[in-house]
Amino acid sequence: MPDLSGKSAIVTGCASGIGAATLRRLRQDGAEVLGTDIDAAAGSKLCEDTGARFAEQDVSDRACWSRIVGEAVSSFGRLDILVNNAGIVSGASIGDVDDDIWDQVIAINLTGTMAGCRAAIAVMKNNPGGAKGSIINIASTTAIAPLPNDVGYSASKGGVRVLSKSVATWCAQQGFDIRCNTVIPGATETGILDNAEEITPGLKAAVAATSPMNRLANPAETAAAIAFLASDECPFMTGAELLVDGGALSIHPGF
Ligand SMILES: NC(=O)c1ccc[n+]([C@@H]2O[C@H](COP(=O)([O-])OP(=O)(O)OC[C@H]3O[C@@H](n4cnc5c(N)ncnc54)[C@H](O)[C@@H]3O)[C@@H](O)[C@H]2O)c1
Repeated sequence: MPDLSGKSAIVTGCASGIGAATLRRLRQDGAEVLGTDIDAAAGSKLCEDTGARFAEQDVSDRACWSRIVGEAVSSFGRLDILVNNAGIVSGASIGDVDDDIWDQVIAINLTGTMAGCRAAIAVMKNNPGGAKGSIINIASTTAIAPLPNDVGYSASKGGVRVLSKSVATWCAQQGFDIRCNTVIPGATETGILDNAEEITPGLKAAVAATSPMNRLANPAETAAAIAFLASDECPFMTGAELLVDGGALSIHPGF
């Protein structure tokens, strides 16, 4: 298990699914954690149960980010880890997407991730002992093999992949020991998949069948990859992508 003792972390979208599993995992591995979510009831309950702090946050509200990173630093003395996890699906194809839906999914999934990276780097730069940190952005296999019926979600996640590489290489060029990597989950048993199932009945079974393992991921399996990237176990990994998809994108479509 990665040792995260002495580290402090922010996990967005911590109230359910992959974010909740990540918050639990980072706490188990020894990190202090500030969980954030728009769902204050579920988020604060989980944080209370796990000994984490909670702050209500809409990640798409760019102005709130300095408050969030400031709260982590004032509570824990430093910020080592940011997991940009909060995300939504939009369920609209290029044939029917309207401007409000497009703007919302890009604002949360992509702009929220950018704003998180920007705010985190500004404080990680000033960590006691020098600029150090690990940012993990959560994309999706739809960033590689997009959904025809969700153009905004797929495009936002494609943007997250490239954003992460730009952040990673800029930090390295600045001489900051701040890594930025992407985790690419496949279909995972969470609320977002329940929402997608409502839009496209039968989706869960269909996506489970695309993995040669023929099952959905448990959120804890994705959290394990996030904890690894958050740790000091992989100091030369930056700009990298970890697929956690049960092999779904690694098999020829005919097999
Ligand atoms: N579940 C999957 O199959 C799957 C696959 C690939 C990628 N992902 C990605 O994993 C991440 C987590 O999703 P999940 O599957 O755990 O879904 P989820 O719906 O269970 O959790 C998402 C969390 O984000 C929060 N959230 C939504 N909008 C927010 C906002 N504006 N500000 C702050 N919090 C907000 C929700 O309240 C919720 O707690 C997302 O980025 C998602 O795109 C999920």
